Amino acid sequence: MSATARKTALLPDDIRARKGGTPIVSLTAYTTPMAELMDAHCDFVLVGDSVGMVLHGLPSTIGVTMEMMILHGQAVKRGLRQAMMVIDMPFGSYEENPQQAFRNASRLMAETGAGAVKLEGGQSMAETIAFLVARGIPVMAHIGLTPQSINTLGGYKVQGRGGAGARLLADAQAVADAGAFAVVLEKVPQTLADQITAAVQIPTIGIGASAGCDGQVLVVDDMLGLFTKFKPKFVKRYANLGEQADAAVAAYAAEVRARTFPAAEHVFADSVAGETS
Ligand code: KIV
Repeated sequence: MSATARKTALLPDDIRARKGGTPIVSLTAYTTPMAELMDAHCDFVLVGDSVGMVLHGLPSTIGVTMEMMILHGQAVKRGLRQAMMVIDMPFGSYEENPQQAFRNASRLMAETGAGAVKLEGGQSMAETIAFLVARGIPVMAHIGLTPQSINTLGGYKVQGRGGAGARLLADAQAVADAGAFAVVLEKVPQTLADQITAAVQIPTIGIGASAGCDGQVLVVDDMLGLFTKFKPKFVKRYANLGEQADAAVAAYAAEVRARTFPAAEHVFADSVAGETS
């Protein structure tokens, strides 16, 4: 079904039901205008903790706080009518124990209106996922390259190569068995992503994985060419808005310095007679 035909917001069960069907479309968003723009095109919008790097200039997602996620979650929610909103649990807000995870996940859902939370981890998070789901919190899992663990993974490397494939498959199975309604596969080899997609009963959402996944997600600023500090291989640039913005700002600066902006049509007369707006 095309996203534009929907009248009401999708629910986690709708996403789960898309297993093996029309690919699920998702992008990240952090602001109301961007959420408005993608609402008709995406099945779910992810308020990713990538917001820390993309909008706040942090070196990784480690420094992202609950307060940042809540503020951006509220902004995104105001821009959505049809797409479901999934919000990331930030580093340190869920790993301690299931109770800590419930406290923070319920706060994220209550204060932002998100339809689900996403958290990073496979077998090690299965107990927490089951705890949250049993208490009314839909969970999307995230395995493979999990950026919050960058300090133990030793960099933004492809995960699951060689002997590590079996562990990733077990991670995917563990989060599915624990009740996650979908699982993000980040930066895993294509063949392994296809194996996992075939093996688990829940949709796989790929980012740097495979076109055979049940859906795809990208960071919106990456695919629009707005965030250009680095470009992972898995990012396709659908636009170069950063370059356009740079040219526009340069043109504005030149016109201000030349006193050609503002022009007659941008300034106000002494009387309103004859003024159009
Ligand atoms: O934070 C994020 O943007 C993510 C990705 C999966 C897109 O988790």
